[in-house]
Amino acid sequence: MEQLIQTSGGSSVDPSVDPALLRTAVGAPVAPPPRLLMGPGPITVDPRVLRAMSAQLVGQYDPAMTAYMNETQALYRAVFRTANEATVLVDGTSRAGIEAALVSLVSPGDRVLVPVFGRFGHLLREIAERCGAEVHVREVPWGEVFTLEALEEAVRDVRPHLVALVQGDTSTTMNQPLEGVGALCHRYGALLYVDCTASLGGNPFEMDAWEVDAATAGLQKCLGGPSGSAPLSLSPRAVEVVRARRSVEAGLRADPASAEGTAPAGVRIRSNYFDLGMILDYWGEERLNHHTEATTMLYGARECARLLLEEGIDAAVARHRLHGDAMLAGVRGLGLSVFGDVAHKMHNVVAVEIPAGLDGDAVRAELLHDYGIEIGTSFGPLAGRVWRLGTMGYNARKDAVLVTLAALEQVLRRHGAPVDPGAGTAAAQEVYA
Ligand SMILES: Cc1ncc(COP(=O)(O)O)c(C=O)c1O
Repeated sequence: MEQLIQTSGGSSVDPSVDPALLRTAVGAPVAPPPRLLMGPGPITVDPRVLRAMSAQLVGQYDPAMTAYMNETQALYRAVFRTANEATVLVDGTSRAGIEAALVSLVSPGDRVLVPVFGRFGHLLREIAERCGAEVHVREVPWGEVFTLEALEEAVRDVRPHLVALVQGDTSTTMNQPLEGVGALCHRYGALLYVDCTASLGGNPFEMDAWEVDAATAGLQKCLGGPSGSAPLSLSPRAVEVVRARRSVEAGLRADPASAEGTAPAGVRIRSNYFDLGMILDYWGEERLNHHTEATTMLYGARECARLLLEEGIDAAVARHRLHGDAMLAGVRGLGLSVFGDVAHKMHNVVAVEIPAGLDGDAVRAELLHDYGIEIGTSFGPLAGRVWRLGTMGYNARKDAVLVTLAALEQVLRRHGAPVDPGAGTAAAQEVYA
């Protein structure tokens, strides 16, 4: 037997463990520094969500657990504003939801249209390509969105099986108008998939009224939770596509020879973990075993939805608009220029141009180090060109906005930017007046 060494705390440890690891990771519990996360997400988690996530587990098929699953489905139907029976959580971060939707709805060779207006449109394109789709891309410059006419022209040209669109592309802060897009897709026989990860809860989203066939999200933006669970909803039309590809794993049914409900291999969804047919069977009445539901994430997702619905979706959207407007006025008050078509900006995040001659990363680092405040930069062509400031979820609050603007003013002044003292917070206060 391995020799064990007694630590000062009295517990025994394996001598093969690196002493440096014992002094750091093994010796110290997680104790993150206090931060105010005012970037594009993740943001500071609502304490109620953290408390819900500290609750003890129950078994996968405990009636308490299946009741929580059913409740969570009902809560997210309200969040997505849909009557879709097929509303579930996918275990994983937001891109797990995207991947589940696309791999389940798109068969190899299907034509998929992806209108791209930022980094996350490119992500949809790349995932659709991995699904073996024939992908057609349309692009507008970063900082703009598509008109309904441009989308119609593209759909008419491509005649896709599915249109994959981001609602709020966090990389540019733009919010793509969706009214009329579902009806247009349906006129041409296409399904509409929407990634509303960054926008849901802080901007209007009307799954049924806008005829969206598949929508996926995450918790870490306006919903005030951590990343790690992806709420997803499918319209009956989308469920039909998934069901036609349904398969049941061997060994689940009492009759070992039963292939009932199993599509031929060529039709089967090309992922096991993200097979929405299997995931729906697990969440549905049959409760056919698939993965082990991430119970702690489910507690968190359930609490995020409760928070939103208690406040009221319209009230939460209005709150995000108010604090987003205050942040917008505040950064302008500091003399900073705002990136992109502000009329189409998401309520919950603003991108500001980094003034020429200023070291954007040094400013961010100083905000984090001296004030404990995190803001973001962006990706690709906007990396190092803009800062992104978020006002979302738990941090869509007056004090969080004012403290961030006050700190940013101090750091800008230290870096030699010409800023009128108090101009940022004063401009924000006018929005609140
Ligand atoms: C619009 C959008 N889609 C997808 C993602 C990917 O989310 P995750 O990192 O949770 O997988 C993000 C993350 O910021 C996002 O903003």
